[in-house]
Amino acid sequence: MDEKRIAVIGQGYVGLPLALSFALHERQVIGVDSDPAICQNLAKGITTQTESFQGKSIQELLKSLLSSGNYQITSDGAAAVQKSNVIILTVGIPIYDGVADFSHFESACQTIGQNIQKNSLVLIRSTVIPGTTETFCTPLIEQASGLRAGVDFFIAYVPERIAEGRAFEEFETMPTLIGAADADSARLAEEVIRINSQAEIIHSNSISAVETSKVLENLQRDANIAIVQEFARFAEAAGMNTMEVIRLANTHKRVNLMTPGPGVGGYCIPNAFHYLNASAQALGVDLPLLRLAREKNEALPAFFAEKAAEKLAEAGKLVENAKIAVAGLAMKDCSPDDRLSPAAEICRLLQKKGAKIAAFDPFVAARHDFQVPSLESAIENADCLLILNKFFQNYDIKTIIARMNPPAVILDTRDLVNPETLPEGTLFWRI
Ligand SMILES: NC(=O)c1ccc[n+]([C@@H]2O[C@H](COP(=O)([O-])OP(=O)(O)OC[C@H]3O[C@@H](n4cnc5c(N)ncnc54)[C@H](O)[C@@H]3O)[C@@H](O)[C@H]2O)c1
Repeated sequence: MDEKRIAVIGQGYVGLPLALSFALHERQVIGVDSDPAICQNLAKGITTQTESFQGKSIQELLKSLLSSGNYQITSDGAAAVQKSNVIILTVGIPIYDGVADFSHFESACQTIGQNIQKNSLVLIRSTVIPGTTETFCTPLIEQASGLRAGVDFFIAYVPERIAEGRAFEEFETMPTLIGAADADSARLAEEVIRINSQAEIIHSNSISAVETSKVLENLQRDANIAIVQEFARFAEAAGMNTMEVIRLANTHKRVNLMTPGPGVGGYCIPNAFHYLNASAQALGVDLPLLRLAREKNEALPAFFAEKAAEKLAEAGKLVENAKIAVAGLAMKDCSPDDRLSPAAEICRLLQKKGAKIAAFDPFVAARHDFQVPSLESAIENADCLLILNKFFQNYDIKTIIARMNPPAVILDTRDLVNPETLPEGTLFWRI
């Protein structure tokens, strides 16, 4: 395969920067998304993503790659697959009530199978239930195309390991795993990864081992967060500063504790247990520790909503009469991604308790009934402020408190407020 014509199926948080990254390396790339609104916006150079690369925003990169012709966007997956010899799948498998929904992923595989040209390469980059590439994708594409994997077309599983917000840099620098069952698929996959990566490439001929390792990476973060959250409850009772203890422990070269925040969200970490559990159940294996970590993390929004009600009561205020300002809605800092966001869940739970919620996040597009356009409007006459996101560090806490309804109740889940600087009478709680 000489000239690589690349189609990237799914133009979300992974697919769009991945497609643009290949286009930046002078490859012809077609981005495909089934959502017409996403396609229309991308065609105009519009995205809510906050990625950047070498001083240029993703919007600037998108516009210049559209005009150079290196990047095209379409909702016509069939035509894109027919024109390409490398097809990269980045459509996710969401979990609803613990059960995986394959519908979008399956439809994308059907599009690939029905339109793939001989000798093309398929790279699965979505995070999947272990076994999915060989027991789901490959047979489906073979059946729809009449072609044989490893002979007429090539397929590899290459997990995406980027963090949102660092995508372009991490495509270049993050070691990449390639799982392929045959040598040609492995070699072709490496050629594609090398287009935009200078990092180590690690091969395995066990596709399911690579799929499982991706799920395990996410699971260790889920368990790590559950550990530090449990520790935070202990530290609070013991009158210690949680973050200080974690900072001290992390000075050990082999300790890497995460810092607790308002909870765990996004597509990756919350789904990991359910992906592994789907395989484990089929094998009759129980995963009690990982299940508990997941349950503990899922319970965090309820914990913080209850904590806010408790601290309001300490200040002589009733949660059902309170106005609560919330700083942060995304599932992580400086991100537009509020999928499975614990912050949004905290807002919903407090709303159910009767509180009036005014939540602000500069990166999240307006889509919740409790969202307001500025932090200033959120805190105006608020009884309580919940700090859930690091963007709050740009604000002066004393100015904020001056606009709140006294006594101000401040809950800081991100260790951004120095309690010694607070005006007298402020009721302060931190994680
Ligand atoms: N977001 C991350 O930081 C990250 C990091 C590593 C891995 N992953 C994994 O990568 C995958 C994608 O994640 P994401 O965050 O980019 O998801 P996303 O929801 O942002 O993007 C998926 C896109 O696919 C589109 N789509 C759905 N069905 C389609 C179809 N049949 N044809 C074409 N497009 C279709 C959707 O409209 C959406 O825009 C997931 O498996 C996720 O677990 C994500």
